[in-house]
Amino acid sequence: MCGIFVYLNYLVPATRQEILEILLNGLKRLEYRGYDSAGIAIDDCGDIGDGPRPMKLIKKKGKVQALREEIEAQKEMKLDQQFHFHVGIAHTRWATHGEPSPRNSHPQRSDPLSEFVVIHNGIITNYKDIKSFLMNKGMEFESETDTEVIAKLVKHLYDTHKEQGISFRETVEMTVQQLEGAFALAFKSVHFPGECVVARRGSPLLIGVKSNSKLSTDHIPVLYSKDTKEFTTEEHRGYMGAQQRLDSTAEFHPVGTDKKVEYFFASDASAIIEHTNQVIFLEDDDIACVKDGCLNITRVKRSLDDSTVREVITLKMEIQQIMKGNFKSFMQKEIFEQPESVVNTMRGRVNFETNQVILGGIKDYMTEIRRCRRLLFIACGTSYHSAIATRQLLEELTELPVMVELASDFLDRSTPVFRDDVCFFISQSGETADTLLALRYCKQRGALIVGITNTVGSSICRESHCGVHINAGPEIGVASTKAYTSQFISLVMFGLMMCEDRLSMQDRKNEIIQGLKKLPEEIKEVLKMDDQIKSLAQELYQQKSLLVMGRGFNFATCLEGALKIKELTYMHSEGIMAGELKHGPLALVDKAMPVMMIVTRDHVHSKCMNALQQVKARHGDPILICNHGDAETLAQGSKCIEVPHTIDCLQGVLTIIPMQLLSLHIAELRNCDVDQPRHLLKTYTLMHMDS
Ligand code: M6R
Repeated sequence: MCGIFVYLNYLVPATRQEILEILLNGLKRLEYRGYDSAGIAIDDCGDIGDGPRPMKLIKKKGKVQALREEIEAQKEMKLDQQFHFHVGIAHTRWATHGEPSPRNSHPQRSDPLSEFVVIHNGIITNYKDIKSFLMNKGMEFESETDTEVIAKLVKHLYDTHKEQGISFRETVEMTVQQLEGAFALAFKSVHFPGECVVARRGSPLLIGVKSNSKLSTDHIPVLYSKDTKEFTTEEHRGYMGAQQRLDSTAEFHPVGTDKKVEYFFASDASAIIEHTNQVIFLEDDDIACVKDGCLNITRVKRSLDDSTVREVITLKMEIQQIMKGNFKSFMQKEIFEQPESVVNTMRGRVNFETNQVILGGIKDYMTEIRRCRRLLFIACGTSYHSAIATRQLLEELTELPVMVELASDFLDRSTPVFRDDVCFFISQSGETADTLLALRYCKQRGALIVGITNTVGSSICRESHCGVHINAGPEIGVASTKAYTSQFISLVMFGLMMCEDRLSMQDRKNEIIQGLKKLPEEIKEVLKMDDQIKSLAQELYQQKSLLVMGRGFNFATCLEGALKIKELTYMHSEGIMAGELKHGPLALVDKAMPVMMIVTRDHVHSKCMNALQQVKARHGDPILICNHGDAETLAQGSKCIEVPHTIDCLQGVLTIIPMQLLSLHIAELRNCDVDQPRHLLKTYTLMHMDS
């Protein structure tokens, strides 16, 4: 995954310094998407009239800060030079083809004069064929990237058609038609000053529009936009309205304008929101072009069910949500946001007075869901754990067979899926390739598709029939924390909705709803133990391994806790089902092996106590996560983390938080990069299918 950011100002004067700041800031926000090298392309010093403008490329290995330093070290940058219109493109990379180096960084150029430059997020699978075609035409390649073929192909096509007066958009359209694979692309050219063309297929790309005029078809230089609509979380426009939101008979009509306007193209909204909340999500095979300040969106391939209108959406995201504030890392901030994020997940959905739950995004599909043959929950990583955490409750409340599947394995097995199945796809990003492919697989087989995502406008969101937006707010740390607790609660809410008509389940439903009500305060209580957990981290951080044991509703905490330890601290860690101890894992236990055990007051408490005795009998001394004031359990542990007692099925929301904090502190003590762990990414899109 890589991050794309473009800033285009039209009749809004900006100095080179201001443009650079906007580009570097945009990249910083996208750095979680890849952080091994970065680069920008801007207009070089020289003629800034209407004719060709020379290009300036600056690229650097390392993080965005390294690029910033490289830019600051450049001489004769004429930082005060003002531009009435300008296109700057910027990229942060996660290497796929070719090691991280300035040569392999983006923008990639068409030739030494950089007549065309391109930034790319994705993988071009037929790049070798294109490369040999272009080499036969005498072109010389300088990088090991797949992306360079795009820059060279666009120039080749321009050179062959320029006599016919081919436009920038047309040239890109012809180029994109030759590409196979996944991409989001942004192009800049010396031949088309002030113009920018972008395209997407399989990788996310959205456009932010900032204009002083109120957005309307009269004023906004978008070819066509219906009324600006709020993306209200309850309406789940991305799930429900999205499919119908476009008027299929409407045509784009460019509105000629001399109005001032700024455009921001980015891989995700976090890079745009500080400039504008007016955004347009591009669809696969869209090409968007800005010329003379006018935005024009066309399709590479047109099919009958194509919509011809892209809606301008008002994003409900606040800039503070994507800033670290006083926290040392985004992960720390996101852990501490959980008392609020879980409230946001429940807001407007759970009525604590009447004990009712309504999920607006799926309510119209409830009859169909209740009639289904089975429920499938499909996801990867932490999102998968949220389904493990709630499986038992869903079985109890729905009385339906519930399958929880890792998306990759589900696809490997070509699992049978039927028309009367309901398939849930859980994903923070809404872009995870395996999950998305599993979604398409199930959709093809006629199942009802329900998305559970945190990202408005994401692919999973758009391709689902209906869904639930978890409303956790932007999650920037690569390690998922607040999204997990919000996914957990979303699935619980779904279970509660499923049993609303079942008389026999009313008491259970009501106690869970009252349990949900208390959760935010109880999470705050757990967070107060941060110092105690920090001391535990001091004792553990030099260890090589950490086993996390538990069962029942807390088994998911073991898996998720161990995943957090692994990905953040690079220590070995394993989540172990306590019932399985004697079937193998017990052999690992001795007095040197660090063990954590989750022993809370529920129907498996006595079984957990047995497991604890088995570990102690092998000279293990587990650190216990248990309920506050549970004397019997406390007496068995030399070190205990006491969390408030809640309803059994919600306990996992409270037991995971000490594990999140512990992994954070161990990672800090081991000098690991908390927000951007080595070798990992926040989102694995279609381009990562081979990995
Ligand atoms: O965006 P998704 O929820 O689909 O991502 C799935 C996993 O890649 C993700 O949860 C991953 O396991 C986290 N980095 C773990 O903290």
